[in-house]
Amino acid sequence: MNKLEIKVSAMLENEGVVRNAIASFVSSYNPTLEEIIDIKTILSEAISNAIIHGYDYDKTKDVYVKASIEDNRLELIVQDYGKGIENINEAMQNNFTSKKDSEKTGIGFTIMKSLSDHFEIQSSINVGTKLKITKILQTDEIQANSYER
Ligand SMILES: Nc1ncnc2c1ncn2[C@@H]1O[C@H](COP(=O)(O)OP(=O)(O)OP(=O)(O)O)[C@@H](O)[C@H]1O
Ligand SMILES: [Mg+2]
Repeated sequence: MNKLEIKVSAMLENEGVVRNAIASFVSSYNPTLEEIIDIKTILSEAISNAIIHGYDYDKTKDVYVKASIEDNRLELIVQDYGKGIENINEAMQNNFTSKKDSEKTGIGFTIMKSLSDHFEIQSSINVGTKLKITKILQTDEIQANSYER
């Protein structure tokens, strides 16, 4: 088992930093390009939700992101200690957003779910939200044994 844990201030500009750190951590396991893109997309959606919805952009708060790999199984945890989700079933529905006035389209959870092999939400009002996401890496069996140009 190998793991990386990151605690980061709830600032949108940190989203890319965490996304790239985890992509770099995963890259030594020979993921496909598609897998790396999926992982980055999942992290963007999850971290921005924590900052925007969980903490309402309160920069004094922290977001916790953990990645762990065992064999070809990657587990991601994105956690905030923010306001929590009132109704998870409603929040999971495609196009549901509690921020209708903004440019939010309510597809974050749909994207995260469709790009992962297992997707779990634990949330309590005024306690926070924890997402557990599993992605099975295909780990390319066919390694490049020749190179030509
Ligand atoms: N970490 C969180 N804390 C509190 N509420 C959340 C959290 N994540 C999601 N939610 C709630 O779930 C709803 C749906 O989230 P989802 O990511 O699917 O859509 P969105 O963030 O509103 O829009 P989009 O992701 O398309 O920009 C949010 O509008 C919000 O009400
Ligand atoms: Mg979202």
